[in-house]
Amino acid sequence: MKQQTNPEDDALRHHTYDGIQEYDKRLPNWWLFTLYGAIAFSAAYWAYYHWSAHMVPGYVRVERQIEEIQKAALATGAAPTDVQLWRLSGDPAVVAAGQKIYTANCVACHGENLEGGIGQNLVDGQWIHGGKPTDIYNTVTKGVLEKGMPVWGPVLGAARIADVTAFIISKNPTIQKPPEE
Ligand code: HEC
Repeated sequence: MKQQTNPEDDALRHHTYDGIQEYDKRLPNWWLFTLYGAIAFSAAYWAYYHWSAHMVPGYVRVERQIEEIQKAALATGAAPTDVQLWRLSGDPAVVAAGQKIYTANCVACHGENLEGGIGQNLVDGQWIHGGKPTDIYNTVTKGVLEKGMPVWGPVLGAARIADVTAFIISKNPTIQKPPEE
């Protein structure tokens, strides 16, 4: 390190601590560069992290991956599981889609607030055909023709039945979270 030669830089400071005095030295440039560099870097890093789509927090990436896997699983035509349907019921976009399907196809018999009418009440915790998410999915898919519940499988398809099932789950406080697979 180069020695400071300017005598002003070496002026003694006024204070004394335990008999120790210190010179009023200028902070070395390499130190200042590190400090200002770190400040500039932190501002740039924060802005990049905050606004650029490149750096997505880890948990969001995991959620997106789970969503894609779930969509892929539904697209194969394999019936969804209790856990999959439960998770869909926590997704506002799916529930909103399910509500539209419900309003268009189910309201006439099951009522505005799922309170029932021609069809069963879907929020009271009483079920004829079972109240697990997959039970509801299956009842809607296969219908109960002899009792007046139409067969929805060929009409709506698996994905939309999953949506409307998710909507029913989201409205029904008696349905418990199923154990993880
Ligand atoms: C034409 C009237 C009608 C329409 C429309 C209708 N349902 Fe039903 N639904 C019924 C009837 C009647 C039952 C009772 C079946 C029975 O007694 O076994 C029923 C039963 C059900 C059940 C089973 C309830 C239980 O207690 O197990 C579910 C779930 C259900 N409907 C969902 C739907 C959904 C979702 C739609 C719209 C996609 C729909 N229903 C449209 C008449 C209807």
